[in-house]
Amino acid sequence: MGKKVSVIGAGFYGSTTALRLAQYNIFDTVVLTDIVEGKPEGLALDINQSRSIEGYETEVIGATTTAEGAGYEVTTNSDVVVITAGLPRKPGMSRMDLIGVNAGIVRGVAENIAKHSPNAVVIVVSNPLDEMTALAQIATGFPKNRVMGQAGMLDTARFTNFVAEKLNVPVGSVKTLTLGSHGDTMVPVPSRCTVGGVPLTEKLSVEEIEDLVTRTRNGGAEIVALLKTGSAYYAPSAAAARMAKAVIEDSGAVMPVCAWVDGEYGISGVYLGVEAEIGIAGIRKVVETKLSDTELAALKGAAEAVRAKQADVQSL
Ligand code: LAC
Repeated sequence: MGKKVSVIGAGFYGSTTALRLAQYNIFDTVVLTDIVEGKPEGLALDINQSRSIEGYETEVIGATTTAEGAGYEVTTNSDVVVITAGLPRKPGMSRMDLIGVNAGIVRGVAENIAKHSPNAVVIVVSNPLDEMTALAQIATGFPKNRVMGQAGMLDTARFTNFVAEKLNVPVGSVKTLTLGSHGDTMVPVPSRCTVGGVPLTEKLSVEEIEDLVTRTRNGGAEIVALLKTGSAYYAPSAAAARMAKAVIEDSGAVMPVCAWVDGEYGISGVYLGVEAEIGIAGIRKVVETKLSDTELAALKGAAEAVRAKQADVQSL
């Protein structure tokens, strides 16, 4: 059986993710679906016509689906499914403002995935991220290690980019980390940030770091405000695609992702942004890192904020 990934939702986030996954040339098939008739088929045709130019063989198959589940047969037995379905923010909205409408969409999608790809690893990117990840686990009924969310990779990449620009150094020399929620309780971890191996705290003042942390926390909203319609998708799709790649290659890469936390950091029973080792079964294990007292307290605060909202999604 060939390797197969399905991307649910053919908006900018979904179609860019499908393109990146196809260009890796490691999957036999990338399925792209949407409820807008003809859109995924059209995008798939377009992407496939770039194959001879870019030099990859993976075929993208577009399929129109309905909320009731028609059209999902094409996704059957996917190894990985990326859920991008749902509405993006409009300027001024918080990710949490999307919870009501996106919960209905993500629940329906998750149920259809469970029916057609009972062994898939599911990567959720719909917002509010931590809550939609928890909901997808409930709706699929999959083991918690097989459902994860994309956020930490993106938030970390934003933080890294801001640090590199501020110091005018290559992004490749900067390492940063963000944990916690993909929202107000995002927890950037300055104690784990380095530039050319030197602690960030030796390169920038506390105030300068705080400014970059704030910009990172508002990184999605900054782009939404500029775009006016829709939200970011180049960096988000890069992050989601890398996660799917780590799964299919069973690479064991350690990445910041939204994962089920059960005891690590003294936190239990909640989906939260942490570092985790990724493989073919999804989350192999959550990797605990050494945090300062302030950072640990912030992570625990994030866990409680997210836990309250995740309890709400069960009834949505
Ligand atoms: C962002 C959205 C995708 O952070 O959550 O840009």
